[in-house]
Amino acid sequence: MNVVSQRVNAPIVIAIDGTSASGKSTNAKMVAKALGYVYVDTGAMYRTLAWYCLKNKVDVNDEKAVTALCRKWKTALECKDNQVHLLVDGVYPAREIRSAEVSAATSHIAAVPKVREWMKKKQRECIQFGNLVMEGRDIGTNVFPETDYKFYLDACISERSKRREAEGVQENLAARDQRDSQRAAAPLMVALGARVINNSGMTADETSKIIIEDIRKRLAEAETIRQNGDNR
Ligand code: DC
Repeated sequence: MNVVSQRVNAPIVIAIDGTSASGKSTNAKMVAKALGYVYVDTGAMYRTLAWYCLKNKVDVNDEKAVTALCRKWKTALECKDNQVHLLVDGVYPAREIRSAEVSAATSHIAAVPKVREWMKKKQRECIQFGNLVMEGRDIGTNVFPETDYKFYLDACISERSKRREAEGVQENLAARDQRDSQRAAAPLMVALGARVINNSGMTADETSKIIIEDIRKRLAEAETIRQNGDNR
């Protein structure tokens, strides 16, 4: 266990990273519910900026223009029903950020270093709401590298495409994965110490059970170590 996470009463962060449609959101929500932690969807934060760029006619391939917008947009973090949302101009555009157009635009703005810097700072601020289950692409590698609880989800491309189709979304997952993994700033990769779960052929119940049992076991071990330290 590393030094940072040993701080007494420091909130716990469970990092769940992985490829698109690998089941991060479903599993992160199930884990958060089972443990009573707050759920944070960092992809939604990037999507909100991409949506805001499109709404304001900012070219998502123009790094300078995207950075300038990100510097001046008016945002706030809100925790409602154990879920954190990034509000822009006081609203969370829940439905709008799920369109195929926004999905495609998001991986462009997510490659901008200044955007990633801004997002990392906001995402670390979420700790104000308590213990977190945070899902994304760089949580274990970049946003909370100090956490002991890191998971990386993946599944074969055909299964991931089927999952998106079942949600009624048609998109080129392979292209998005490639952009997410090959960008220079905080690319998608397996964090050191992360438990990798390939959930091809598995249900969300089966996947989340593995994660929840793993965390409960390690939290119990950490508690035993803490109590032994107190009794010395
Ligand atoms: O998880 P998602 O499909 O909602 O993510 C949308 C896009 O945002 C995806 O292309 C990758 C990017 N993203 C990122 O670069 N870093 C994160 N922590 C979360 C999402």
